[in-house]
Amino acid sequence: MNDVPLVITVDGPAGSGKSTVAKALANRLGLSYLDTGALYRAIAWHLNNHGISAVEGETLTNALEALSITLGKQGVCVGGHNVTSLIRSPEVDGVVSCYAALPSVRRKLLDLQRRQAILPGIVADGRDMGTVVFPCASCKFFLIATPEIRTQRRVKEIRERGETVSYQEVLEGIRERDRIDSERAEAPLRKPENSLEIDTSGMSIEEVVSRMYEIVANVVSL
Ligand code: DC
Repeated sequence: MNDVPLVITVDGPAGSGKSTVAKALANRLGLSYLDTGALYRAIAWHLNNHGISAVEGETLTNALEALSITLGKQGVCVGGHNVTSLIRSPEVDGVVSCYAALPSVRRKLLDLQRRQAILPGIVADGRDMGTVVFPCASCKFFLIATPEIRTQRRVKEIRERGETVSYQEVLEGIRERDRIDSERAEAPLRKPENSLEIDTSGMSIEEVVSRMYEIVANVVSL
């Protein structure tokens, strides 16, 4: 029996399908799913709600030091509050990239993310999973899709929650997040070395998951 957790990373821009396929792949492999975007969203929600702006400095350092953040089966908790249902709002969408670009925010989350890699293993989705957090992962994927397809997926997801949103507004938000996530100095969104890129634009969820499953099965001989 293997006593080292299997780590599979799934990176890519917003709306590339990462979370849906990472969750499904984890299920199929009997592994846990790690949603690192939820951690960045929870911190962004908390700081934004406390009027702490996205700039490095003493105020931010003190706020982060005092902040407890946990991730479990029930979702993500900050300062003892379960914020899972609050972190997918357009408001958080609009500010999260600015907080996620801050080195002190990323430092705060690094160990927490690594500690989630427990037996039998995890499928971790984010922007720097294969590059920074789990550089020695057994299998690395990089998912992409056109901005228009990613926008359509995001609009569908928001409308299914009963919220109203315009296509143009979401497209602009996605372009802006792509820009901030890729241009930041600390752990920018990049295709990890030795990762397999999959363009999910014309593919169904099942097709993407099956393709990934076959690749993992080959690499780790399931
Ligand atoms: O995957 P998501 O849309 O829930 O991510 C929300 C934001 O958090 C996104 O703008 C980029 C940031 N993020 C990050 O910088 N690093 C990660 N590992 C995960 C998310």
